Amino acid sequence: MRVIIENDADQVAKVAAFFVGQVIHENRPSKTKNPVLGLATGSTPLKLYEILIEQYKAGELSFAGVTTFNLDEYVGLPANHEQSYRNFMQRHLFDHIDIDPASTFLPSVSSPDLRQEGLRYDQRILEAGGIDLQLLGIGFDGHIGFNEPGSSLASPTRLKALTRQTRADNSRFFDSIDQVPKLSVTMGIGSILKAKQCLLLATGTQKQDAVQAMIEGPVSSRVPASALQLHPNTVVLLDEAAAAKLEFQDYYRDSESLQREIQPIAI
Ligand code: GLP
Repeated sequence: MRVIIENDADQVAKVAAFFVGQVIHENRPSKTKNPVLGLATGSTPLKLYEILIEQYKAGELSFAGVTTFNLDEYVGLPANHEQSYRNFMQRHLFDHIDIDPASTFLPSVSSPDLRQEGLRYDQRILEAGGIDLQLLGIGFDGHIGFNEPGSSLASPTRLKALTRQTRADNSRFFDSIDQVPKLSVTMGIGSILKAKQCLLLATGTQKQDAVQAMIEGPVSSRVPASALQLHPNTVVLLDEAAAAKLEFQDYYRDSESLQREIQPIAI
C-alpha cells in the first residue's frame, strides 16, 4: 500500500484529481483502450468531483471515451429518488462533464434476479477491459462499497444488507433513518480487488479507527477495507486527521517523499 498523508481534505482532493487525470490521459482512446473508472459516492469524493468538473470546464480534462462503473446502489428507492446513487452521480459529476451517459454504469437494482444481475455487472466490467482506477471511500466500520463486516473477501457484485450503523451514518442524507434502504447491490470485494489500481480517500477524525485497522490491522472480513492489503497497487490518500492513529506515520511520510522524487505529483 502507498499511504499518502496530506494536510487537509482540499489537498487530498487535489492529489486524487491528479491520479484520476493521469489514468484518463494514459488510457486515451487513441492509445491501448478507453479509460475505465470505478466511482464512489458518499461525502468524501465530493471535492474531487468538483475539481474534475472545474478541470473539464477549463478544457484541461475530457471524459469523452471514458466508461465508469459505480461501486453500489441502494435497493428499494424509486428510480429518480434524490438519494439514489444514480441521482447522486448525475448531480455531482455526470451532468457537468462530457461523458457519454450510455457509458456510465451503476449496479441494476430493478431486476427480479439480483444475483444474476450482479454477476452480469462483473462481466460487463471485464468486457470493458477491467477498471483502471477504482475510487473508494471507507465507512466507519471499515466497509468499502457496501461490503459490511463479514463480507467474503472474494465476493462478487451482489445483494448486501446494510448494518444498522451504516443506515444510521447515512441517515443524514434522508429525513429519518426509517427512510434509509436496508439493502443494496454492491461490487464485491473480489470485484474491487480486480481493479488495476485502487485509490481510497479518507478524511476527518471520525475515520481514524477504520483507517488504522485497514492499513495496520490484520486482513480480515471484520474490516472489509483491510482486503486492500492484498491488492498490488493501492494508494490510500488521507488527511492528517484520518491518519492520526497510524503507528508508522513517519515511515509513510518518508517513503512518500522518496516516491515523489521519482514520480512527482503535479497539482
Ligand atoms: C457509503 C458508501 C461507501 C462510502 C461510505 C462512506 O456507505 N456506500 O462507498 O465509502 O458511505 O461515506 P462518506 O464518504 O460520506 O463518509
